[in-house]
Amino acid sequence: MAGPTEDTTLSIAAEALGSAAFRRDYGVRLAYTAGSMYQGIASESMVLALANAGLLGFFGSGGLSFESVEEAIATIQGGLPGTASYGMNLLSEGRPDAERRLIDLYLERGVRNVEASAFLRITAPLVLFRLRGLRRNAEGDVIARQRVIAKASRREVAEAFMSPPPLAIARSLHEAGDITAEELELSQQIPLAQDVCVEADSGGHTDQGVAFTLVPTIVALRNEIMQRHRYRSLIRVGAAGGIGTPEAVAAAFILGADFVTTGSVNQCTVEAGTSDAVKDLLQGMDIHDTAYAPAGDLFEMGSRVQVLKKGLLFPARANRLFDLYRQYDSLEALPAGTRETLEKYFRRTLDEVWEETRAFYARYRPEELERAERTPKARMALVFRWYFVQTNRLARSGGPQPNVDYQIHCGPALGAFNRWVRGTNLENWRSRHVAVIADRLMSGAAQVLSLRLAALTRNA
Ligand SMILES: Cc1cc2nc3c(=O)[nH]c(=O)nc-3n(C[C@H](O)[C@H](O)[C@H](O)COP(=O)(O)O)c2cc1C
Repeated sequence: MAGPTEDTTLSIAAEALGSAAFRRDYGVRLAYTAGSMYQGIASESMVLALANAGLLGFFGSGGLSFESVEEAIATIQGGLPGTASYGMNLLSEGRPDAERRLIDLYLERGVRNVEASAFLRITAPLVLFRLRGLRRNAEGDVIARQRVIAKASRREVAEAFMSPPPLAIARSLHEAGDITAEELELSQQIPLAQDVCVEADSGGHTDQGVAFTLVPTIVALRNEIMQRHRYRSLIRVGAAGGIGTPEAVAAAFILGADFVTTGSVNQCTVEAGTSDAVKDLLQGMDIHDTAYAPAGDLFEMGSRVQVLKKGLLFPARANRLFDLYRQYDSLEALPAGTRETLEKYFRRTLDEVWEETRAFYARYRPEELERAERTPKARMALVFRWYFVQTNRLARSGGPQPNVDYQIHCGPALGAFNRWVRGTNLENWRSRHVAVIADRLMSGAAQVLSLRLAALTRNA
């Protein structure tokens, strides 16, 4: 056999990267997904543009009303080419009734793919989604009608999703008449999620994980779990967080990923459901222009989000709010000067903010209001959280500009992307389209791998 020579040329195609089973199961061209972005930033048109290009995108249903999600499903299903795949997000918000209602809607409307995120423990609605319609085919394989792609930034969360659905939950669903005896019996033969996407430090909510450590560890965990449970099909591991260049995509596949997921780069495109003002700011960002801030939805737990910092005061102000929350036990305990500063951030008195907050919670979440009225610290948290709701709304609507209070979730992947496309026809976000970005990243990665591997074999 001839050894490698100087002119060895390897030609890897974008379509060959990652798991063939992933591409087959979802009916997509590339082992690539565009992750959900809350409140419809990952919009109907984003999902449809991807579907039209034979790619998989997830609608950002987190933080939207039930009715808006219902409408989004109708729009997506109405515009979907043939049997193309799409998915919806299921964001754990710690509200079991709302989660069940959403899952019932997904099942009723025939949504087949869900990206499950922020789950710290497995819930009954999620299990129901996975198990409803489970059957055995003529070859004896267990076939699931619905698929769960789980986002995980921690090993134990990945393990829970790679395991069969908890039997106790499956049994209680059966007792409640939600699943059949056959679905219960087959439940222990499949993983809860057949795809687990490892999320390293990303735009939005983040545990600040490092892909170089996380991905190989979760791939090894997957191999261990495959041995333990002897599933007939391989669980696939995805990689998300920090992917904005072909080199990053190539690295993810070398680390062992079966598919890749992007987020930040998709927010600065024509299809993203956010304001032009936000897209203009994002287009001008570089790799060091992000910061960490408290997450408004999980404020009291100290969870963090990665946001755009350049030209904005949101990160500094949001961090100040969290420091004050830790330092003081009530709004009344805040020094007068501090109170004044906050009223400058809020452009309203704290009393006005509380009145507005109270009216909202009285209508939509009376139990939380009750707690806040009993506990001064909880009341302070609700008032501070108002700022997170407002800043998010301001950014998405492109409200009064210039505005230093925009809250824009974003990671450095977009900074790297901006640099990569400088001087090309993708420099201006008005000509950036999600499907084109997916193709460029994946074909670029194929090229990077071809060149690197050829160089390595030459050196061998
Ligand atoms: C603006 C924004 C909003 C996001 N919202 C969600 C969400 O609602 N649900 C979710 O699962 N992931 C959400 N993500 C995470 C993305 O789906 C994706 O996993 C992540 O952005 C990948 O990392 P990257 O930003 O470094 O590319 C969001 C990301 C961004 C940038």
